[in-house]
Amino acid sequence: SRLPAPGSSSPCTCRRGSGTRGPGPEPAFFPRNSASSQAFIGPKASNSGTRKSLRCRHPLSLNIRRHPHFRGLFNLSTPVLLSWPLFTQELWDSLSQHKAPYGWQGLSRQAITSTLRLLNGSESTELFTGSREPRPHCIRCAVVGNGGILNGSRQGRNIDAHDYVFRLNGAVIKGFEDDVGTKTSFYGFTVNTMKNSLISYWTLGFTSVPQGQDLHYIFIPSDIRDYVMLRSAILGVRVPEGPDKGDRPWTYFGPEASASKFKLLHPDFISYLTERFLKSKLINTTFGDLYMPSTGALMLLTALHTCDQVSAYGFITRNYWKFSDHYFERIKKPLIFYANHDLSLEATLWRDLHKAGILWLYQR
Ligand SMILES: *[C@@H]1O[C@H](CO)[C@@H](O)[C@H](O)[C@H]1NC(C)=O
Ligand SMILES: *[C@@H]1O[C@H](CO)[C@@H](O)[C@H](O)[C@H]1NC(C)=O
Ligand SMILES: *[C@@H]1O[C@H](CO)[C@@H](O)[C@H](O)[C@H]1NC(C)=O
Ligand SMILES: *[C@@H]1O[C@H](CO)[C@@H](O)[C@H](O)[C@H]1NC(C)=O
Repeated sequence: SRLPAPGSSSPCTCRRGSGTRGPGPEPAFFPRNSASSQAFIGPKASNSGTRKSLRCRHPLSLNIRRHPHFRGLFNLSTPVLLSWPLFTQELWDSLSQHKAPYGWQGLSRQAITSTLRLLNGSESTELFTGSREPRPHCIRCAVVGNGGILNGSRQGRNIDAHDYVFRLNGAVIKGFEDDVGTKTSFYGFTVNTMKNSLISYWTLGFTSVPQGQDLHYIFIPSDIRDYVMLRSAILGVRVPEGPDKGDRPWTYFGPEASASKFKLLHPDFISYLTERFLKSKLINTTFGDLYMPSTGALMLLTALHTCDQVSAYGFITRNYWKFSDHYFERIKKPLIFYANHDLSLEATLWRDLHKAGILWLYQR
């Protein structure tokens, strides 16, 4: 069982009160005055713990329902992933009206359908399938952004104690295990951000994307490139066309070429997130067409729509200026605010979701 023993340094206990770093206000989903994980995860669990008996006492859905603002934004029934069973003429017509990442305007129908056709199994419609049986009743997820706040954080064990760990882009692990952990269940990216991360952070240790048997990849469809790479990865062939022509997907994702290894975010889900949670003023500027939520934001919001409890590590906080852009930099670099993302808006969202007890944001 991966359930931490009561009183151990599970993320659900040590981050509360007893933590050495700025305790701050308690997240609303933790019962006050409780000092052990028992209060959080339910009845006393033996170390050999049968997960089956454990329930989620404080699912984030409860705090969403109780919140006057967020209950109007979240729709936990919105499909998160796109797979072949969802493809219809109606979907084609509707998504053809929107540019990527929100749709397929200007993209070849053949390129889209030849990719989606491969996503025809149950593992393509759901994030949590397959290897983990029985499915935990309370799915606890950590989403690990790459923010400098993680440098020296010693949060690795807490991160790894979650059922699933999401990482993204230049997620350097080697050499930073104590701070960021080692477990990766999902790696999220666009082909553009993945390849840029390999180029930009190679000398800082990001020499390959995380790989592993229990690891799944979440493609963000920001361009036709993503569909073409996804198809090639599933088929185990070189990329046949476009800017990535000749790329060997297995050099990125490892030798296992199968549809169950790869997930695709639904363009409608990205629209829904942008519209409801991250509707930036940048949309009305010259950069409007470039704007989209950051990869980290998309992964954190994906987790919020699929997990029962979510902890966010390495995401932007109010005091971001104290930390380097990324945890793996050797010399402190200020955080860069690119025109295609709205990190201020994202920072406000994480702060408000934390206050509402819908997620727990690592801060120091
Ligand atoms: C939530 O999303 C589902 C699936 O897209 C939709 O059928 C439903 O009407 C939505 N609910 C609300 C309240 O918008
Ligand atoms: C997808 O799966 C369904 C149900 O198993 C099957 O009827 C259909 O032929 C499959 N489609 C493709 C394109 O493989
Ligand atoms: C963009 O401008 C339009 C028209 O002025 C306005 O209605 C809309 O609210 C603006 N959107 C954002 C996100 O600021
Ligand atoms: C990382 O943290 C150490 C101390 O914990 C500090 O000396 C170093 O400057 C930090 N690195 C960056 C890039 O901020």
